[in-house]
Amino acid sequence: MTVDELRRAFLAFFEERGHRRIPSSSLVPHGDPTLLFTTAGMVQFKPYFMGLAEPPARRLTSIQRCFRTTDVESVGDATHLTAFEMLGNFSVGDYFKPEAIGWAWEFLTGVLRIDPARLWATVFTTDDEAARLWAERGVPEDRILRYTAEQGNWWGPPGDTGPMGPCSEMHYDWGKTPGCRHCEANTCHPDIGCGRFLEIWNLVFMTYQQEEDGSQTDLPAANIDTGAGLERLASVVQGARTVYETDELNRLITVAERVSGRKYDTNKSPDVAFALRAMTEHARALAFLATDGVLPSNEGRGYVLRRLLRRAIYFAYKIGIREPFLEQMVDAAIDLSYQTNPQMLEQRDFIKRLARVEEARFLQTLDRGLTLLDEVIERGRSTRRIPGRDAFTLYDTHGLPLELTVEVAQSHGYEVDREGFEKEMELQRERSRGEEAFTAQHDDRALRYAALGIETAFVGYDGLDARSEVLHLERGGEPVIRLEAGETGEVVLRQSPFYPEGGGQVGDHGLVVTTTGQFRVRDTQKYGETIVLTGEVEQGHIEISAAAEARVDAARRADTARNHTGTHLLHAALRSVLGTHVRQAGSYVGPDRLRFDYTHPEAPTEAEMTAVQRMVNAKIRADIRSETFVLGYEEAIARGAIAFFEDRYTDTVRMVEYCDTRGNDPEHMHTSECYSRELCGGTHLHATGEVGMLIVVSDISIGAGLRRIEAVTGAAAERFIEDRAGLVNILARRFKVPAAEVLGRIDALEESLAAERKRVEEAERRASAGLADDLIGRAEQVDGVSVVVARVTADSPDALRVIADRLRPKLGVSFIFLAADAKGRPAFLASASEEVIARGLRADEVVRAAAALAGGGGGGRPNLAQAGGKDAAQIDAAVELARKTVRERLGG
Ligand code: ALA
Repeated sequence: MTVDELRRAFLAFFEERGHRRIPSSSLVPHGDPTLLFTTAGMVQFKPYFMGLAEPPARRLTSIQRCFRTTDVESVGDATHLTAFEMLGNFSVGDYFKPEAIGWAWEFLTGVLRIDPARLWATVFTTDDEAARLWAERGVPEDRILRYTAEQGNWWGPPGDTGPMGPCSEMHYDWGKTPGCRHCEANTCHPDIGCGRFLEIWNLVFMTYQQEEDGSQTDLPAANIDTGAGLERLASVVQGARTVYETDELNRLITVAERVSGRKYDTNKSPDVAFALRAMTEHARALAFLATDGVLPSNEGRGYVLRRLLRRAIYFAYKIGIREPFLEQMVDAAIDLSYQTNPQMLEQRDFIKRLARVEEARFLQTLDRGLTLLDEVIERGRSTRRIPGRDAFTLYDTHGLPLELTVEVAQSHGYEVDREGFEKEMELQRERSRGEEAFTAQHDDRALRYAALGIETAFVGYDGLDARSEVLHLERGGEPVIRLEAGETGEVVLRQSPFYPEGGGQVGDHGLVVTTTGQFRVRDTQKYGETIVLTGEVEQGHIEISAAAEARVDAARRADTARNHTGTHLLHAALRSVLGTHVRQAGSYVGPDRLRFDYTHPEAPTEAEMTAVQRMVNAKIRADIRSETFVLGYEEAIARGAIAFFEDRYTDTVRMVEYCDTRGNDPEHMHTSECYSRELCGGTHLHATGEVGMLIVVSDISIGAGLRRIEAVTGAAAERFIEDRAGLVNILARRFKVPAAEVLGRIDALEESLAAERKRVEEAERRASAGLADDLIGRAEQVDGVSVVVARVTADSPDALRVIADRLRPKLGVSFIFLAADAKGRPAFLASASEEVIARGLRADEVVRAAAALAGGGGGGRPNLAQAGGKDAAQIDAAVELARKTVRERLGG
């Protein structure tokens, strides 16, 4: 049975047993700041288990792509993977232990035909029921073990808070491990960890919830969450001792062999095998992560990706690969996985390019970095410790992730001073104005409102006004029955025309009017199923249960809709001009402007940006009508709708289309293509014409492969054009030329300015030459030495040097001392010929003494020295001092 057949068999098995098949969610968990990555099949179902949202069905099954950062440094061995697929079946308050255990057994022994004699079960210490259920399936008592939470039979929560519970695992017995004394004594069991047992399925009996304050509460219902690693299960079915020998990963290993020219042979060259496995795994993980919008960076998710990538390159380097290989491997990984994740195909070129650019960047410094690391290791022989500062330099200058330095250090039996590293990192952060770290913020409002169980109907797609009823009021996080004039608080209505912030679009503003008062809505948010209005009572008071009239601020909504429709048109135009790899990575849609983050490896050219803007405006003029549909997720995707990276699966989705056939422009009537088709919950215009006009204000890079466009529409676009045009008019008036000639005029002015500058420099040069000649005439002869000691006019220390340079060749054996008031600061210079120095008169000494008098300091060499001071009033005294010193030393 191939890996792919296993996927199908699993889903079919559970579909036959009433489970709804749910597509894998993104590796970036949707709206869950407690988690960096999707680490298990249950992550997208968390809100269902917690009672915060209604599941599409009580029985669910999925194959979830997962990513786990624990054990990255073990990747390359036989069993560890960072990216993998998890087979799972789930019950949201439906079936429980008997079915979960029964079906797991039936699937393993019946469908996959795994020999029952090789299966061991573990249950949580006190779980008699699970133990009995396994025994009833025929698992002998001595192969049903009771494990504690520490031994692995408690699962969750993923992250700091969330659902969890005792669990029961199935382990596969490969047979005794040679050299394991427990195996020899017949006392071995899975927790010994000798490699004999492989955990293939985890069944979690999810009934508890870990709260933020550390306490544990009961979940609303008893749930089932199971997970079986696809590759692990495949290794058992295919009789392969490592996951890398199952069919799909093995094909990638073959590619790794080809690009490296090395043979995968775990016995003869284990180091090479380790490196090939690390390259394989990390390349595949890169393809997975990048497809879900994770891009290399030095923070959060992006850092994890970069670390993997660099680790793969390091291991390749170790086995002698000096040529880029990553792109080929990523390409092969996409070939293997795109059928389960079609997004990969669209993103292929982009991901390959990303791999290429990142690899090239790292290869440039890797060689030097590793040499340096060798030196550091050599230096640290006595302490066997890598100082934090060195680890930091390796990271900061040579791109060696700390974890990689640690790994290499450990292979030499060294430690790394992580604290020291962190300190350096902290300093760096302070220097670079504190980059944003990945911080988990948790708003307990979601839980609070979920507990209330109010479902607000959103009625704002078609109308802006609605008759409604006040269901709930809060002030300062506490429920109240009245909000008085002047008080700020939160209002929940039975139905709301106010759009709650979501999908990048800001929440609506407006007014709630009751017979007793008026509430100004300043923001609208949605928590669970509840739409919450924030604002203040402007008049009278607002009471619970009152009939209310809700009125959305129509102008603000219309401006926001212009920007939302504009965003969709822009997205489509970018994909059409730059390529379909362009994906939305975030957006802000407000009444004032729109911001659109998208993936693209380099700055678009000016011509490309112009083409994008023109295309958008052409679609605006075509006045294409919008159409929205509510339909099944799969159907929408099949119809080509673009889903956002972090879209989570919901039973039905809303799809917004702009199809040219619905335009009012006959020129476009013949095409049946939809220009834009996106999954979107936002509020849109009826037709594109109302956008008016879209102007791109800026396009900047905000990270590797990530760009940000800001644009304005409607009246804001008009203002923008007016401002720019106005500016040109002002310039035209100022320069007294027609607008079209302003540029030519600026060019001419710049030219004449340059000519003028040259003229001034020339004049200054001539003036100092004249000054020099004058000084030569006044040179005093003191015992065979030409001495010039003078205060001159010069506006910089450099000017003094120019004068001295002119004097020196004409004076023969000389001593020169010049002083000037350089824009309010004293400047001194002295120069002495060798003969003069020999007679005990040194330039640096004279200058230092003079400068000291004027409150400054400086220095130089015996033959040439310069210094500055603070007190310009002392310049004359300093000149006198110099003159006196010269006379004394030369005996004049
Ligand atoms: N959520 C469980 C796990 O990841 C099934 O092991």
